[in-house]
Amino acid sequence: MNNIVLCGFMGCGKSTVGKNIARKSGRKFLDMDSYIEEKAGMTVSEIFEKYGEEKFRDMEHDACVELAGLEGLVIASGGGAFTFKRNVEAFKGKDKIVFLDVPLGIIKSRLKNDKTRPLLQRPDRDRVMKDLYDSRYPIYHAAADIVVKGKNTPLKSDFQKNQPFSFETPRTDGLFCGFSSDRHSSSSIHTKQPSRHFCKSASQT
Ligand code: S3P
Repeated sequence: MNNIVLCGFMGCGKSTVGKNIARKSGRKFLDMDSYIEEKAGMTVSEIFEKYGEEKFRDMEHDACVELAGLEGLVIASGGGAFTFKRNVEAFKGKDKIVFLDVPLGIIKSRLKNDKTRPLLQRPDRDRVMKDLYDSRYPIYHAAADIVVKGKNTPLKSDFQKNQPFSFETPRTDGLFCGFSSDRHSSSSIHTKQPSRHFCKSASQT
């Protein structure tokens, strides 16, 4: 069973949504940054501080290659991972890449007090975020098999009501588990077959 890999900007909800999908589909959830931290024995901030961003990106790439070799996971990637072609190539074609498309204004307010993301620990945080967001947005889009529009808090109502999305994934027990925004956001239904209700690319999972 292939993996579902969530990508998108810092603070877009990859971990929260990923855990939700994992719980509903019976897959195991894996956070890429935690995986890197565990291997390195230090936090992402410490890696940046001690070795610099370039070294972190190499560790991140190793993680992508290793995780793409596994099966049946829901993976929350780091916000920068899918901006590198070599990382997209590690997953593309084999796994389902889902971009959580959340507006910059929402991300800014979610991250305004963040102390854990090394790229944002600077006085001109707002400008850096906008530049990164604008340059990364088309790259996430191009990398993704499925784009999910998100607006509200991912824990409560994950996805924007006016922008229906849906996708479907096989569960470990052989049933299919669908996620759809047009039936009371973030709801899921279980069917024995991929249902027509869901988009084509997802039912090819
Ligand atoms: C980064 C995002 C972070 C983490 C690192 C770099 C980025 O992950 O990998 O701080 O370049 O956007 P989250 O997206 O989980 O915050």
